[in-house]
Amino acid sequence: MAHTQFKGFAGILLRGDVYGDPDDPLVLLVHGGGQTRDIWKETASALARAGRQVIALDLRGHGESEWPDDGRYDFSAYVEDLRAVLAQLPSRPVIVGASLGGWVAAAAVGEEGAHLASGLVLADAPPDLDLTNIRAAAGVLRAASETAKGAWDPRMLERFQLEDALARFKAAAPNIQMPVLFVRGALSDITDPVSASRIVEQIPGAEYAEIGDAGHVVAADRADLFSATLLAFMERRVPRFVPEYRSGSDARTLREALGCFATGVTVVTAFEKDGEPVGLTANSFTSVSLDPPLLLVCVAKTSNSLKALEAAEHFAVNVLHIGQQPASRLFSKPGEERFQQTPWKRGRHDAPLLSNALANFECRRHQIHDGGDHIILVGEVLRANFDPRRDPLLYFRGKYRRLHFS
Ligand SMILES: Cc1cc2nc3c(=O)[nH]c(=O)nc-3n(C[C@H](O)[C@H](O)[C@H](O)COP(=O)(O)O)c2cc1C
Repeated sequence: MAHTQFKGFAGILLRGDVYGDPDDPLVLLVHGGGQTRDIWKETASALARAGRQVIALDLRGHGESEWPDDGRYDFSAYVEDLRAVLAQLPSRPVIVGASLGGWVAAAAVGEEGAHLASGLVLADAPPDLDLTNIRAAAGVLRAASETAKGAWDPRMLERFQLEDALARFKAAAPNIQMPVLFVRGALSDITDPVSASRIVEQIPGAEYAEIGDAGHVVAADRADLFSATLLAFMERRVPRFVPEYRSGSDARTLREALGCFATGVTVVTAFEKDGEPVGLTANSFTSVSLDPPLLLVCVAKTSNSLKALEAAEHFAVNVLHIGQQPASRLFSKPGEERFQQTPWKRGRHDAPLLSNALANFECRRHQIHDGGDHIILVGEVLRANFDPRRDPLLYFRGKYRRLHFS
């Protein structure tokens, strides 16, 4: 086991332990309020032995993570801490959040969309807490604070916004798009089984499990049963195996492998013989040569634009900026009136140019090569203009993306 640290919200230092092999898929463990990463010790070792790399994090104001000078323990501060940690990880982890850690994780991944984590486990994270339970929890926490001699900052109890946490947890639930497991301690006096099942129904495809003989701190009470449940869930829903394409196997896997190469997005355009503009979205654009100035784009032989692109003496490659996702959609969906819905003009070299594109390359057809189920259309660049200020529209793993500088 080694130590690690992250910069959280507003630069606060968050500390954690790392277990296992860095080549294994990652699991991030986030404890509950008034606890520390120590609750995961056994679970973390079991996961590492089963081929997962594990990071057990201390939340702000807990364990060895910093206690914020400004006393910020509002729910947003925790959520932003977690988002900051996720951005510093090399891959998307399965997040396992206990209690408060579960609320934080659910809000972080549910409010931001699907792509911050590969899975989520909520360990006895109550969707509702009635007042008596809060008092019970607060009592337990206070007692724990005294015995643990400052393992967490008691200011947290006054500053924490319970209602905000519960509301955001519940609002985020239907938007969580990843494999989810809710684990309840069968003896938990904090998480009521009815409200737990209700929130599980709210989360698309979520699974529910109960650990017998365990209370609220499931992972510490029955680490053996808890890790077994966790591992079974992960093997089933977030498997360790890395997808592999072999010659002759499913083309989808090959497409996914190729999708690991991030690209920009272009629309390739030309005029048909009768003067009608044609165009299609293409990310197979590549620069080829500076002298002579050549570029290429690959066009599917099934494309409706193929004939026109093969026949036209000139064509254009329009590189899209971040605001042109609608144009990319339009030029990739069949049957749309593409040029009626997008501003364009005739270029100097007899090809249609999309207006305000990030760059327009006007080309003369140079060569056409066979490329399996595509043609490789090589063009000689006659004229190029570009906007040096805008950001590009990106495409990666089958989804549109934007530039992000950290
Ligand atoms: C981001 C993205 C990139 C694409 N890249 C290409 C490409 O490089 N070559 C291609 O032939 N089709 C590509 N396509 C698919 C075509 O845009 C799509 O099949 C389109 O409907 C073809 O139009 P057409 O049949 O009218 O020519 C891409 C689609 C998207 C969304």
